[in-house]
Amino acid sequence: MSTPALPGEQQVAATAHSSGYAIEFDNVSIAFDEKVVLDGISFKLPCAETKALFGVAGSGKSVLLKLAMGLIRPDSGRIIMLGEEVTRMTERELFELRGRVGIVFQESALFDSLKVWENVAFRLMENKIAPDEIERRVRESLKFVELEQTYDMFPSELSGGMRRRVAIARAIVSHPEVLLYDSPTGGLDPVTSNTIVELIMKQRDVYKTSALMVTHRLQDAFTMASHEFDKKKNEMVAIPKGQRGEVPMSFLILKDGKVIFDGDAQQLAASRDEYIREYIS
Ligand SMILES: Nc1ncnc2c1ncn2[C@@H]1O[C@H](COP(=O)(O)OP(=O)(O)OP(=O)(O)O)[C@@H](O)[C@H]1O
Ligand SMILES: [Mg+2]
Repeated sequence: MSTPALPGEQQVAATAHSSGYAIEFDNVSIAFDEKVVLDGISFKLPCAETKALFGVAGSGKSVLLKLAMGLIRPDSGRIIMLGEEVTRMTERELFELRGRVGIVFQESALFDSLKVWENVAFRLMENKIAPDEIERRVRESLKFVELEQTYDMFPSELSGGMRRRVAIARAIVSHPEVLLYDSPTGGLDPVTSNTIVELIMKQRDVYKTSALMVTHRLQDAFTMASHEFDKKKNEMVAIPKGQRGEVPMSFLILKDGKVIFDGDAQQLAASRDEYIREYIS
């Protein structure tokens, strides 16, 4: 039996940029009122990879995501998203670029006065897409997060984990080429967190979407580095130890405005840096 086309599948080819990177930060710095938050940050996110972003509270993780979206501008340095230089774009160009990016905000940020389907449809409605096409895409996205039954409900009727899943449905409804997740498991219990991690993994492995994922939970990123989403079983499965180097998952740690680690799970586990050892213990 052939598998039905999944949302975003046809978009995969579009993520292959000449550079091979979905996001590039080149020596980016930003300060607020003399307080330096990011100090010469450089890293690259290869297409189809998910990079987990760590750092203590206030280390600039959300600021980094906002810079990538062009919501704020750096004091210096260059940011390139999907082959386009964000740091040189006009507001109009940024608006178009944001249409190719999905964001899951810290705290879900759903509109409580709108039904679930209206929350998910929000960006499609801005783009004047036909109502029946909107409904089809909304149902498809809610199906992806296994929340079709909440279509006509209000966010206040949902649990914290369900709200987070609706926020993911909203982010993927436009078939984005890049996803930015800000603490998608923040405030959730470990079991619910795992369902969110599985969804993020599904997006990585089924749609091959490039992603930056801010998280406070190292365990979430290690799970993503040691598992893959099995489309047939419709669940994540552990990858044998020797084959984990091929998982498109990496880690980036910020400290005092600088990148102190950028590499894969194996390199992280082998790090001799005292701060990193303490961080991962
Ligand atoms: N618009 C702004 N104006 C002034 N200061 C800001 C602004 N945005 C962020 N900051 C400051 O930048 C620093 C980094 O903030 P950011 O929100 O990126 O932290 P974070 O790493 O996401 O923290 P958390 O883990 O708590 O979410 C903080 O000191 C914050 O007060
Ligand atoms: Mg934050």
